[in-house]
Amino acid sequence: MKTNGVIFLIAFLLAFGGGYLYFSQAGKDQKQQTTQQNTSTEVDKGEVEKEEATSVPAEAEVMSNNSCLSCHAVSSMGVEGGTTGPDLSNAFKDIEGKHGKDLDSFLQEPTSAVMSGVIAGSPLSDEDRAEIVKFLEKASEQ
Ligand code: HEC
Repeated sequence: MKTNGVIFLIAFLLAFGGGYLYFSQAGKDQKQQTTQQNTSTEVDKGEVEKEEATSVPAEAEVMSNNSCLSCHAVSSMGVEGGTTGPDLSNAFKDIEGKHGKDLDSFLQEPTSAVMSGVIAGSPLSDEDRAEIVKFLEKASEQ
């Protein structure tokens, strides 16, 4: 996992640095071209923001605020998210069989590798945890 993280970081830096060099060069060469690029970048950004706004319902905001959605989707509630972790639509029901404890205890002290790291790095407040449990209970009833 650590090695993957390092490789990802390096790839990200390369992509970002390369993009920066490319665009700053293009800016020097042709002013007009840069203006067009800027316009299209703004349009892209607008679209992304709109997508985010529509794909996360208010009750799932607690999950996006705690970065859960960077790794998890909750498809039964129409919540899109990352695919690193499993879809959490049935987590409320399945958690006991899979991890030997209920969801509330799991989110305090996860027994699985990745989640232990996630929660150790940024523990959930009691309030947020309660909201997430409530939301995932609802998701499992859909
Ligand atoms: C870095 C990616 C990542 C983040 C961020 C993350 N998770 Fe996970 N989660 C995983 C992975 C991977 C698993 C599978 C078990 C494991 O390896 O820990 C998992 C498992 C789970 C499970 C058990 C479900 C099952 O079927 O095994 C629950 C519940 C869960 N996560 C909830 C959350 C919540 C709530 C948050 C936000 C506070 C969160 N996760 C943030 C990656 C992540």
